[in-house]
Amino acid sequence: MEIITDVNLMQQRCLSAREQGRRIAFVPTMGYLHAGHRSLLEEGRRRGELLVLSIFVNPTQFGQGEDFESYPRDLTSDAGLAEAAGVDLIFAPEARDMYPPGYATYVDVEGLTDTLCGRSRPGHFRGVTTVVTKLFTIVQPHLALFGCKDFQQLAVIRRMTGDLNLPVEIVGMPIVREADGLAMSSRNVYLSKSERSQALALVDALRLAGRLARGGESSAAAIIEAVRRRIVSEPDAGIDYIQICRKDSLEDQPVIGRDSVLLLAVKIGKTRLIDNAYLFEEV
Ligand code: PAJ
Repeated sequence: MEIITDVNLMQQRCLSAREQGRRIAFVPTMGYLHAGHRSLLEEGRRRGELLVLSIFVNPTQFGQGEDFESYPRDLTSDAGLAEAAGVDLIFAPEARDMYPPGYATYVDVEGLTDTLCGRSRPGHFRGVTTVVTKLFTIVQPHLALFGCKDFQQLAVIRRMTGDLNLPVEIVGMPIVREADGLAMSSRNVYLSKSERSQALALVDALRLAGRLARGGESSAAAIIEAVRRRIVSEPDAGIDYIQICRKDSLEDQPVIGRDSVLLLAVKIGKTRLIDNAYLFEEV
């Protein structure tokens, strides 16, 4: 396994791998890797011949007052996990090389980014789509793997890839959870012991909603109200959004259907957590 920080060297490596006909599988991340990231790498290893992991805490997707500075970083431990998962190349560029002075080009996906996290984190998805486009151009992957944990991000990346005719297959992967159900996230390290147990309200609320839906409740408002009550029962929980949306368009769905997904963003203390589930699938 090799760690490359130089943008041009990385692009050269990937272009020549492509010329040799090697199928490149790519997993973009911000590092501080956990079992959720590992599941993406393992699937990439199965599907590709050259497995590339990027680790880059992307400044353009963080808003003012968000956690860019404090976002957890540990390249040594990430390299260990990556090596064990069979990664061939880690791309870990510096922000000044990805966005040199005078940088002026951004990619914006309209519509899908107006709701959910796009509404509460203005500019966030513009940063994500811009960096993913740059990473695709540098890494030249045949396929790229993303987690359904970031459900809206996956929808936005699929839209962008289609709209821009990028020759990359986008693979969505299931949410990996801790044994007690909490969705794995690099941000979980921010949680105190008490917050960690309060954070279970998210998965608990998803399960409650699923039981209601499968029991015949079809009103999104009724399900959302039950979810809200469960979450506000935790003293340090603050709701950002609770929405039931159609899975592809992310439009609100007043009457639920087979394609309904429940999406949550909740602050536990200062830590913002997201989670989601299809209402007719067990979590
Ligand atoms: P990051 O939060 O590091 O996540 C990298 C990838 O891992 C994303 O596709 C995310 O959905 C997936 N992932 C995170 N937690 C997961 C879990 N518990 N189960 C399954 N997959 C999980 O998402 C980003 O980085 C960035 O926005 C990025 C796409 C790299 C652009 O900067």
